[in-house]
Amino acid sequence: MESTFSKLGGSLVVPNVQELAKEKSTTVPKRYVRFEENDSILSNVSSSSSEVPVIDMLKLDGDSLEEFGKLHDACRQWGFFQLINHGVGSQVVENMKLEIQEFFHMPIEEKKKFNQEDGDVEGYGQAFVVSEDQKLDWADMFYIITSLTYLRKNHLIPKLPHKFRDAIEAYSEDLKTLAMKILRLMARVLKMKEEDMNILFEEGMQSMRMNYYPPCPQPDLVTGLCPHSDAVGLAILIQVNKIEGLHVKKDGVWIPVVPLPDAFVVNIGDILEIVTNGAYRSTEHRTVVNKEQERLSVVTFLSPKMEGYLGPAPRLVTAETPAKFKRIGVSDYFKGLFARELVGKSYLDSMRT
Ligand code: OGA
Ligand code: NI
Repeated sequence: MESTFSKLGGSLVVPNVQELAKEKSTTVPKRYVRFEENDSILSNVSSSSSEVPVIDMLKLDGDSLEEFGKLHDACRQWGFFQLINHGVGSQVVENMKLEIQEFFHMPIEEKKKFNQEDGDVEGYGQAFVVSEDQKLDWADMFYIITSLTYLRKNHLIPKLPHKFRDAIEAYSEDLKTLAMKILRLMARVLKMKEEDMNILFEEGMQSMRMNYYPPCPQPDLVTGLCPHSDAVGLAILIQVNKIEGLHVKKDGVWIPVVPLPDAFVVNIGDILEIVTNGAYRSTEHRTVVNKEQERLSVVTFLSPKMEGYLGPAPRLVTAETPAKFKRIGVSDYFKGLFARELVGKSYLDSMRT
């Protein structure tokens, strides 16, 4: 059975960047050029020691007040943190990394079988392209809804190589458990009702966005992924092949993220900013690419259940902190999202009261 929300909206068909990169041209096509030689993507990048906070799940499990304070500050000031000792088995993570690489390294004819269909963002292709003269990112993506299972598309996960399928199953389940745990911890720190998080997310939609960034002849002129915030509840990211490229915007400058071994990079999505009535911030981030090496990543998103509504949690709306965002149906929220270009936090801004 496919749900009523089987298609979230589509994206225009764009060139496959992995194939484009194989042509070994010394320049990138105009559509990818976002910067100039003397004003490159690296002009506003911090070289200071400022770093995304690191949160230790074992200390949270041990009820460390200090660690809860660190979590709270990370979510308020950064919207991003690295999570260590998260409890997800390394075999589950390593299998996922291996299989994602296998997928993107398949011949284009094989990958094409998973191409996005008309009007649907799921599948192999690119997202958020709504006009022919819009600039493009130097990346391909494979996007799938993984949970709840009835939301899955028959032509995607069931048709993948079985090892990839098994890896996705295991990873999906463990990351759902982890995401719910993180959300409940946040509810606790915020003095929100845990139940409010459960109602929104327990039967929420989990999706995975696998990103492939080929080597680029002019990396300073392009973006891997243009500046954006994640429209979801919570996002949990790993680099698949140890190549860095994620930047987080803090106080107007871009801070490179240097992932710790075995850590997850966790970030607050727009929906969580709405639910927390602005207490926790979704933060703009982007990726850069490089000349020699491909880069791969996978982001696992958890969003509220499609049938529900989202808005600021009742306990966080007070006389001193009036509601900053409107209430909206979750499916309407997503339809609106995929109908537009992804530009910074502009979609979230449209939800403000
Ligand atoms: C994303 C994203 C960052 C990365 O897919 O939304 O921000 O490092 N990816 O690939
Ligand atoms: Ni993102």
